[in-house]
This record gives sequence, structure tokens and C-alpha cells, in this order.
Amino acid sequence: MKRDLSVRIGSLELRNPVLVASGIIGYGREYERLVSLEEIGGIVTKTVTRHARAGNPPPRVCETPAGMLNSIGIENPGLEGFLAVKVPVLRGLPCAVIVSVEGENVPEFCELVEGVDGSGVAHAIEVNISCPNVGPHGMRYSTDAGMAREVMGAIRPLTKLPLIAKLTPNVTRIGEIAEACESCGADAVSLVNTFVGMAVDARTRKPILGTVLGGLSGPAIKPLALAKVWEVVQAVDIPVVGMGGITRPVDAVEFLLLGARAVEVGTALFADPTLAEGCVSEIDRYLEKMGSSSVDDLIGGLEVPEGRGVIRAGCAPRTVRGGRAS
Ligand SMILES: Cc1cc2nc3c(=O)[nH]c(=O)nc-3n(C[C@H](O)[C@H](O)[C@H](O)COP(=O)(O)O)c2cc1C
Repeated sequence: MKRDLSVRIGSLELRNPVLVASGIIGYGREYERLVSLEEIGGIVTKTVTRHARAGNPPPRVCETPAGMLNSIGIENPGLEGFLAVKVPVLRGLPCAVIVSVEGENVPEFCELVEGVDGSGVAHAIEVNISCPNVGPHGMRYSTDAGMAREVMGAIRPLTKLPLIAKLTPNVTRIGEIAEACESCGADAVSLVNTFVGMAVDARTRKPILGTVLGGLSGPAIKPLALAKVWEVVQAVDIPVVGMGGITRPVDAVEFLLLGARAVEVGTALFADPTLAEGCVSEIDRYLEKMGSSSVDDLIGGLEVPEGRGVIRAGCAPRTVRGGRAS
């Protein structure tokens, strides 16, 4: 039996639900020698900003017992550099290309979306409203539902490309931010970006990162990320793209069981560049074991006892009916 792993995120059709997260493999070609891009669903590019950014002062990464802290600060060539140098590189990649953008204000977001739309290279745009490493504006638009509405509402009319709002987990009620994005025409939400974290060197009595605070990613955050994805799949009807700490192929299956329509693999690729393909194989194997021919049967299949796992009033978790979540 041939199994169908394809999923849709708005009008974006993916051959399978496994993407590589933003910031991990640059613009795709850097990664091409390590993994065959034909086998994964797509890549999310490094975030592009209006103006070129040199990134933050070093040290910008620091290993932690179960993950890493980074404060890269969105080092990138800016919109013009992206259009001139990176777009030709992205053209013809054998998988979906999702371009990530981040503005300091609403007019910059608008310029970025128009620029990426006009490039003709993107299959979708991930709107990064969640970076903890670029100063106060980085997370502003996804820690406040009103501001999320403002930015998503402004860019929605500017493109027909699917818009995926990437959310920060550094909030109390992520479901409300996701709802705000949905109400302004986001085609999907992706989560989580990194958790704000810090590392200290007791010997030197100094913070380890050049920016003092950074973003925590990797296996340490997986349970936290699962809980955020769980909250958001209850709150919105648009597709949810889940990520955060996927380190073993079966981790990807867990996010899909929660109800994520696709997953993004990040930090763990630094240790195992073949992990994204491994996730695709694991999803296929899991379907085979289920005796199922479609990944749709797996998505949202988590069996939760009635009335349990409620995150807030009015948000009923899926309950099991006839052995399948509904
Ligand atoms: C070194 C590094 C750079 C990152 N750069 C970006 C970025 O430019 N834009 C973005 O939206 N997320 C960026 N992220 C966040 C990841 O895309 C992802 O949301 C996060 O790391 C959680 O997933 P993980 O635990 O699988 O890495 C970066 C993460 C790392 C580790």
C-alpha cells in the first residue's frame, strides 16, 4: 500500500509534513550536500529583515545540558541582498521554500512581504513575530494580541501567498495570540520560537552570551513546546505547524498526534543532519503500523480522556470517539 504523506497549509501543498526550521540551514543550498531536499517537505529560510544585519556581539551560542542558547540576532543580508544574492540560490530547490521575514515595524513588514511576494521564489511566507534576540521589537508583535492583529492585518492584503505567523512561547496565553492572527487572515501559525534563557559563568562571574539573554532550543524545550502546540490546536481552526526540541524521529509523530499539520526540525540537525529525512521515514512507518494510508489519520489522533487537558475555559480538548480523536 502506498501511503500519502502530503499535507496542505492553506494553498501550500507539501509532499510530506516535515520542514527545516528557520535559522538552521541558511538558504537551503548549504545543506544540500548533507541531505537530499527531495525527501523533505520544505525549508524555512533564515529570517530576512528590511536592512542587512551583522547580528549580535559574540559569544552568540552556548551549549546547555539538553539544548542550546543562541543570540544570533538575525544576521542576514537584508531585503535587497536577499533578492540579489539568495533568491537565485533558492530558485529550483527541489522542495517547498518558505521565506521567513521580520520587520522592526509594520511598514517594514509590509515592504518585506511585498518584496518576497515579488521575488516569485517563495511558496509561503513565515512571519517571524517572535525573535527574542533583536531587541524590544522582536517579540512585541506576538506577545500582544492587538499588535499581532495590527501586523497580520496590514500584510494580509499584500500577498496571495500563504502567511504563517511564527509565535513566541514567552507568553501566558499563546492561544489568544494565535486567534488574533487567525482573525486577520493568517493561513497558519507556527510555534514555538525559542524560550528566553540565560547562562552564567560562575568562574568569571559573567553572563556567557554577549547579549546576556538568549533563546533556548533543543530537547529541553520539547515538553514545553508540546503544551503550547496543544493549547493552540484547541484555539484555532487554521493549521498549526509545531516545533521545539524535535530530536528523535518519533518526536515529529508526537507533534502530529497533538494536531499539528506539519513540523519543523531545528537545533537537533546540528548533531544529526539526516534527522528531517528520519522524521519522514518514521511518519511513514507509523502509518504502516496503524494500517493507514494517509497522514490525515495520524494528525490529531491523540487519545485524551474526556474533560482532561483543558487549558482555559471555552477551549475543549479533543475527546476520543470510536477510538479516534475528533
Ligand atoms: C542558531 C539558531 C538560529 C535561529 N534563527 C532563527 C531565525 O532566524 N528565525 C526564526 O524564526 N527562528 C530562528 N530560530 C528558532 C528556530 O527556528 C526554532 O523555532 C527553535 O530553535 C525551536 O526549535 P528546535 O528546538 O527544534 O531548535 C533559530 C534557532 C537557532 C538554534
